[in-house]
Amino acid sequence: MKQQLIMKLLAGMAGLGIALGAATAHASPEADRQEFIKYYTSKYPDVKLEDYVYGALAFDADSKAQYDAIMEFPPFEADIEKGRKMWETPFKNGKTYASCLPNGGKQIAGNYPMFDDAKGKVVTLQDAINDCRTTNGEEAFKINDMKTMGVLTAYMRTLSDGMLMNIKVEGPKAMAAYEDGKKTFFTRKGQLNFACANCHVQNAGTRLRSELISPAVGHAVHWPVFRGGDSLVTLQQRYDGCFKQVRAVPPAQGGTTMNNLEYFHSALSNGMPMKASVFRK
Ligand code: HEC
Repeated sequence: MKQQLIMKLLAGMAGLGIALGAATAHASPEADRQEFIKYYTSKYPDVKLEDYVYGALAFDADSKAQYDAIMEFPPFEADIEKGRKMWETPFKNGKTYASCLPNGGKQIAGNYPMFDDAKGKVVTLQDAINDCRTTNGEEAFKINDMKTMGVLTAYMRTLSDGMLMNIKVEGPKAMAAYEDGKKTFFTRKGQLNFACANCHVQNAGTRLRSELISPAVGHAVHWPVFRGGDSLVTLQQRYDGCFKQVRAVPPAQGGTTMNNLEYFHSALSNGMPMKASVFRK
């Protein structure tokens, strides 16, 4: 099985040269995004770019139909409702998330991750929520605790549905963080020695084992997802899973490597509409 997988990846190697050559160091994020799009759309001229928000489903009409049916009556509404209650419950000091975050927390998710010049680092939406909590005398949530941060963001991010992803990379420090994320994306790792790009660029739209692989453009707009209908997964948890798939030790969620990866990876989806809490297989 493993052998087959490796053969399949090797067979696709010709494409990676183009992809790696395209994402040259210090190209502007917009130039990178355009190169990625050019790569995918010339390989798959029949798949509409706007459908990339559906990930692998854009390449498989049957799975997309199943997705549409599930999204009519999502089995995870109860979790989102729990998140709404958390969002609306004031802190002990009477303040709320809405009073603490920009624009009352609405239509802002597409601005994250953002580079915070004062802090000198990338800040994710989860970091902003935790800042809000600690400023108001509450304890920070664990970044990857699904019962608190996961459920809260499953609701909170729906307040940004329809917003277009709008990641800004301005100034040398922000650029360095972006480049660091890009390096993680293109560096081979793990016992299987695959980079994110091996699968999500070079093999996007093809099957590995039984799974159709999604393109990286459109990846960042729909988090968190509910896998199998009820298990909540955030974007960095998904990264964690993909690191483990290639038998690499995943970097800590919420740490610099993951946050910079999310920064680069999210910028690839600039201009695409956000849609939180969707079904994934
Ligand atoms: C061995 C191949 C492989 C590698 C390497 C890999 N992934 Fe994945 N990834 C998958 C498969 C298979 C899936 C599930 C099918 C899909 O949605 O693409 C997936 C899913 C995802 C998803 C969810 C897509 C969605 O719409 O639900 C994201 C995001 C993702 N990977 C990011 C990454 C990142 C970032 C890296 C590098 C750290 C990476 N992957 C490395 C195979 C891989």
